[in-house]
Amino acid sequence: MSSPCNREKQRLFLALWPEAVVRLQIAELASSVAGVRRVGEDNLHLTLVFLGATRSESLAAYQAALTNLQVPVFELVLDRYGHWPKPRILWLGCSQTPPELYALVADLHRRLRDCGFIPERRPFQAHVTLARKFSGSLPAHSPSPPVCWPISTVSLVKSLPAVNGSQYQILHRWPGLG
Ligand code: 2AM
Repeated sequence: MSSPCNREKQRLFLALWPEAVVRLQIAELASSVAGVRRVGEDNLHLTLVFLGATRSESLAAYQAALTNLQVPVFELVLDRYGHWPKPRILWLGCSQTPPELYALVADLHRRLRDCGFIPERRPFQAHVTLARKFSGSLPAHSPSPPVCWPISTVSLVKSLPAVNGSQYQILHRWPGLG
């Protein structure tokens, strides 16, 4: 049962959320390698910052801090699979992470830190989770074809518990400079 405190909080994260064409390309790769535990097409995303359980006052502060966010326009090439055995996650990522993506995450951290948010200490690893509780091994081949994802928007997303995992709801979008 959730406590009264938890009921006031929303579980939030900032993410890159693919549009239909890219989402379908990622979903096709997922269905070829990720098996029955694959993430549903509508849930595919790349987390930039996990905000966690967030009070409404903190959310208001974060949104104010992000008001004039300058989202750079760049392309992400998803051309490699990765596997984290302990959390049993199979993911899709980049063999070369663009500097614009690191700069975007650093900018988000800087703005959020100013309102008291403490970013994760582990280094940012760009990844789209394809499967959770994945029992297979890392595919021996590269994603074919690689996915070219034009980035232009950052989304604020709410995560809600659902029967098959999580349901996500986009609360806000910050458009890019392009
Ligand atoms: P993922 O990025 O590896 O898929 C919402 O829970 C999203 O935030 C998921 O995409 C999730 O994992 C990511 N995330 C990052 N850090 C998390 C954490 N500490 N707890 C839960 N989810 C986290």
